Amino acid sequence: MTPTLPRAPGIDRLSAHHLHALAVAVLIDRYLKVDPTPGRLAEIAGKVAGFAEKELFPHFQVEETALLPALRQALDSDPLIDQLIAHHRNMETLVGRLAGSSAHERASLLRQFGASLRRHIRMEEVELFRQIDGRLDEAGREELGLKVDEARRAMGLTVHRLW
Ligand SMILES: [Fe+2]
Ligand SMILES: [Fe+2]
Repeated sequence: MTPTLPRAPGIDRLSAHHLHALAVAVLIDRYLKVDPTPGRLAEIAGKVAGFAEKELFPHFQVEETALLPALRQALDSDPLIDQLIAHHRNMETLVGRLAGSSAHERASLLRQFGASLRRHIRMEEVELFRQIDGRLDEAGREELGLKVDEARRAMGLTVHRLW
């Protein structure tokens, strides 16, 4: 997964969010394995909701307002982009269901959310970002990174400490 070309800082900052989101997915898995008590699962569901509101959903918005529209123009990858946006909606739905979930649904919803998050990040990092590296020249990558950073600042998006 090592890029062969330098990435624009704005894209690297999205990758930093992806790493944080992967850490959240690892923590979900760990608690599901070692301490799946109702009290712990309720606590994890609350932390996932906080992570989603403060970081993940704004990250989706940055991608959908700045990154993906630009890539629809620059790449010939509409099916991939459509799929990524569908993942966003699906994860939003899972987080919404988690908020109103009963104790016995919670483990399954957390597992689904963690798995969706991993699959989505892998698709963005491996398929989408690799296409950016391969198809955009340095000026194009730079311009894209600036657009993403502008949207990120407008959303006030940073990496939060949640656990
Ligand atoms: Fe995404
Ligand atoms: Fe992303």
